[in-house]
Amino acid sequence: MTHEKRSIMTKLPMPGETRSPRLPLHPDIDEAMIRRLVHAFYGKVREDPRLGPLFAQSISQPWPEHLDKMCDFWSSIMLKTARFKGRPMATHAKITNLAESDFAIWLQLFEETAYAECPPACAAIFVEKASMIAESFRLGLFYRPNAIH
Ligand code: HEM
Repeated sequence: MTHEKRSIMTKLPMPGETRSPRLPLHPDIDEAMIRRLVHAFYGKVREDPRLGPLFAQSISQPWPEHLDKMCDFWSSIMLKTARFKGRPMATHAKITNLAESDFAIWLQLFEETAYAECPPACAAIFVEKASMIAESFRLGLFYRPNAIH
């Protein structure tokens, strides 16, 4: 690919993006909102009868560190800060006892928390992103078209 073509490509939005990929997804979303949402969400996760024990058995670092990492993750997505460094698919693949149906529980809790903690327009963007990522994890971890049933 020529230099000229590459520089044109980098200005193009990613599929599904209507704005420049470097801009925050909504002007009202900031680090404080992300922190509030992440902390409230994982508070609920820890109390959930299915996800609480699953996290307790699988988490490989103390909760405060995990929460900081999740703030970095959401900051990278919503504010385009590129702060998150991790390999989420590989991390989830290592969780023994993770079931496909756990994603619906996770998303339900995330949606409830997003609308409780954020203005509706911001909550809707968080939920849309979470749903897309959850679906890609779910397919990556559980979709086996060639499996013999
Ligand atoms: C079925 C639902 C889910 C469960 C049970 C789950 C569980 C976990 C656990 C236990 C960890 C910590 C692993 C470790 O410390 O080694 C983790 C990490 C993480 N999770 Fe999830 N998760 C779920 C869904 C999601 C979804 C939908 C997202 C994104 C929208 C997400 C994003 C992340 C990220 C970014 C990390 C850090 C990955 C890394 O360090 O590379 N998780 N998850």
